[in-house]
Amino acid sequence: MRVGRQQGALEAATDRAHLSRNSYADSGKLRARASIYKYRRPALDIVPWALAQVPWSGDETVLDVGCGAGGYLRGLGKSGQMRLVGMDLSTGMLREVRDSWDSARRPLLAACDAQSIPLRPASCDRILAMHMLYHVPDIGMTLKGLRDLLVSDGLLMAGTNGEAHLAELRDLFHEAHEEAEGRSLKAVPHWSRRFRLERGCELASATFGHVEVREHSGNIVVPDAQPVIDYLESTRSVMEKALSAGVDWKDVMSIAARRIGEIIEAEGAFRARTIAGVILCRP
Ligand SMILES: C[S@@+](CC[C@H](N)C(=O)[O-])C[C@H]1O[C@@H](n2cnc3c(N)ncnc32)[C@H](O)[C@@H]1O
Repeated sequence: MRVGRQQGALEAATDRAHLSRNSYADSGKLRARASIYKYRRPALDIVPWALAQVPWSGDETVLDVGCGAGGYLRGLGKSGQMRLVGMDLSTGMLREVRDSWDSARRPLLAACDAQSIPLRPASCDRILAMHMLYHVPDIGMTLKGLRDLLVSDGLLMAGTNGEAHLAELRDLFHEAHEEAEGRSLKAVPHWSRRFRLERGCELASATFGHVEVREHSGNIVVPDAQPVIDYLESTRSVMEKALSAGVDWKDVMSIAARRIGEIIEAEGAFRARTIAGVILCRP
């Protein structure tokens, strides 16, 4: 029964039509989720942090697969003369990338699935796959495909979260479900475990000769309930599928909101650990 419920969330998290038309039809839900990191202590700007993990010559050909609204492409485009390519399942996301660049300097953009990228073998110096591989149905095949697109001294940077990332918030959501339904979702593996830092490292090691993890950790300290509620609300398109039959999303959310409010009243803020980073993969 529990596995069945999480199976629904897993299917929604890897269903390409659902992702491109719903979860990532545009950057709205992703921005709502990302806005909680304004409360990270110490403060960290994740795009420059990730890009600074490797040196750049400034003339690489870089593919950003699952580029979303193009935050990493913009981070790279500020310097040098790189040839930038952005790909994503979602045409809405790609539209946002297109509209944020002037036409002369805009990256080459294409809507496609990371599992079948229409580029020649050995045509990329660097590939970014940031916070997206857990959405790909066949991660192993995708990693092999990405490796084949790299030149022999190329590099894949795969961004993701660690196992303990925002665990307190996940637990709170599971406990809210338990209060609504009498049964916890807590013991069931979350779909994003398909490619967190720990599992991602194992998967990448099966395909790449050299794999290295760089991580950063901190805490979010949020003095108001609303940003935490907005974060949970932004996961609805996938997490609603994990609820038991007959349990209403709004009921779980109203319990979660009450619990977040109680924690803030008692402790002055809602706190959770953040652990995320990049997996650097060389052929
Ligand atoms: C969490 S967002 C990350 C966006 C961006 N990389 C970032 O870190 O800001 C995941 C992105 O991956 C895209 N995506 C999901 N599955 C994909 C697939 N199979 N092929 C290509 N893109 C995919 C989604 O449309 C979405 O834009």
